[in-house]
Amino acid sequence: MPKKAILAFSGGLDTSVVVKYLQEKYNMDVVTVTVDVGQGDDQKKIAAKAKKLGVKKHYNIDAKKEFVSDFIFPSIKANSLYQKKYCLATALTRPLIAKKVLEIAKKEKVTALAHGCSGKGNDQVRFDVTFSSGSNLPIIAPIRDLNLDRKTELKFAKKHGIKIDSVAKKFSIDQNLWGRAIEGGVLEDAYKEPPSDVFIWVKTKNLAANPSYLEIQFEKGVPVAVDGKKLNPIALIEYINKKAGAAGVGIVDHIEDRVIGIKSREVYETPAATCLIEAHSDLEKMVHTKHENKFKSLIDDEWSWLVYSGLWEDPLRKDLDAFIDQTQKRVSGTVKLKLYKGSLRVVGRKSKYSLYSYKVATYGKGSTFDQKLAKGFVELWGMQSTEANKLQRKR
Ligand code: ARG
Repeated sequence: MPKKAILAFSGGLDTSVVVKYLQEKYNMDVVTVTVDVGQGDDQKKIAAKAKKLGVKKHYNIDAKKEFVSDFIFPSIKANSLYQKKYCLATALTRPLIAKKVLEIAKKEKVTALAHGCSGKGNDQVRFDVTFSSGSNLPIIAPIRDLNLDRKTELKFAKKHGIKIDSVAKKFSIDQNLWGRAIEGGVLEDAYKEPPSDVFIWVKTKNLAANPSYLEIQFEKGVPVAVDGKKLNPIALIEYINKKAGAAGVGIVDHIEDRVIGIKSREVYETPAATCLIEAHSDLEKMVHTKHENKFKSLIDDEWSWLVYSGLWEDPLRKDLDAFIDQTQKRVSGTVKLKLYKGSLRVVGRKSKYSLYSYKVATYGKGSTFDQKLAKGFVELWGMQSTEANKLQRKR
């Protein structure tokens, strides 16, 4: 019986090279799986590419709906931004892709699971951990195992007639519905401003002279309508990506700590994620108590850290989700965002669960808040702090 590997296949440089390596160096038959998470690729072209590479069978799975409902929406509820910046666009897809690969692995009775990740990035962790959580099959990662670099891969691709598009020669790109990540090439100089041809989703030149607005309606922590229109989750995200991107909103440029310890310069285009997380967290502040706000931000951070670090499958993630879901019952309402020449600002919010009370907060006449009550509270609140300082002064 020939050995048979199943490979998560994007049709890009890494995974195309891996198909050939598996066939030639590992002597294996290859089954490829492309999971559509809204990367906008032509699935027919990818299937043709797989065929040309001589794979035994190619699968194309549309997982966009599942990606939104089971991965993006939980991440919005968790206001998920790794190191306060990165919306986890790539990180969220990996466990989903790996799960889909596992489903087909069973059907195809393969002898190994394969991926095209390097030994330097985070994706190897995400694939390996999800694979090993759901199967005992061995994992093959030729790029990591053979210590391949990009230049060697490009040479190998050329030798095997594998076509690589011109952008992929300059940068390493990963994109889906939730964001576009750009790495490598000139971006590896952490002090150099990214050239404008890096950006495709976000407009950087000739931005509109007037501001535009986005009105996002949330129901139990997830967006359900935008600008007064009820849209399905995929269309809603696409709509915001377009509108905010056109206003220059959604570029992120930061130094990121990878799981294995490397610091890397990462550039992202994430217009919808940027707007939705900003709006969602603002709405939470209005409906949650100060205690919920303080505690939940710790949980949110832990969630982001765990998911970034490839531990989607850890039971803790579900534990955190249970808490987060409980907090979302009152996160319903509308947030108004102003987009102007690349900047984003929340300029209004309302909710039937709002804890903001005009009558209590107003500095105007008719406030129902009795200021006299505050005196005693402040005295007790600061008692230990003032005592400690009194003691210091005596010394
Ligand atoms: N650093 C991000 C992550 O680990 C994005 C990686 C994107 N990959 C790429 N080839 N650009 O999730």
